[in-house]
Amino acid sequence: MNVILMGAPGAGKGTHAADLSKKYGIPHISTGDILREEVKKGTELGKLAKSYMDAGKLLPDDVIIKIIQKRLEEPDCKRGYIFDGFPRTINQAKMLDEISNIEAAIYLKCDDDILIKRLSGRRMTKDGRIYNIYFDPPPEGVEVYQRDDDNEETIKERLKVFYDTFGPLIDFYKQKGVLYEIRGDEQREVVFSNIVNILDRLNK
Ligand code: AP5
Repeated sequence: MNVILMGAPGAGKGTHAADLSKKYGIPHISTGDILREEVKKGTELGKLAKSYMDAGKLLPDDVIIKIIQKRLEEPDCKRGYIFDGFPRTINQAKMLDEISNIEAAIYLKCDDDILIKRLSGRRMTKDGRIYNIYFDPPPEGVEVYQRDDDNEETIKERLKVFYDTFGPLIDFYKQKGVLYEIRGDEQREVVFSNIVNILDRLNK
């Protein structure tokens, strides 16, 4: 099963991709997480990525495409994968189309006021568990941190970049007949079950 979760920053891609990965036993591939790992390790790629991520801008397509080509060669991708944050541009989608058969591109639609509240309230643990101080607060004693790009100025830019780029992507997957649009701003359990319904129908 090869799936893409699409949506604006804060739509819930990472939250649901992690849960889907557990449910279906296939990897969750987040280009954002891969890049943040490189930043943490201080690699050349990490240094490059940080300059774009801190500004809320997208990295060049060729950099992202190389990362994905390498990741898809890993043996855990044989049974399928869930993309989160990729593809982000029409060039990335076209490249993916050459090497993968996407069965569902699920677009999580959300209103901006909710997105902004979610991003400003997001907190993470070092091992990647996502919490939210407004909707899903971390238990007492659990150490959490805030992402560098979850500040007001960068959030605004990330949303702008999303709205500038997502139209052609939606059209691309609509034309392929694999686009599913659902509300991402309902309760977490409701959104998850709506995604599972789509995927289970495809796998029958
Ligand atoms: P990336 O890491 O992909 O970030 P993003 O797209 O901005 O998306 P987020 O991770 O912020 O949001 P999400 O939808 O995963 O939301 P989450 O589930 O955490 O990219 C970061 C940067 O890397 C980019 O700006 C760019 O520079 C670079 N990059 C990455 N990929 C790239 C690519 N392909 N090409 C070029 N550059 C790339 O949820 C948010 C919060 O809401 C959480 O606190 C969560 O608990 C809460 N929440 C979620 N769902 C619900 C719900 N239903 N009810 C209540 N709370 C909820």
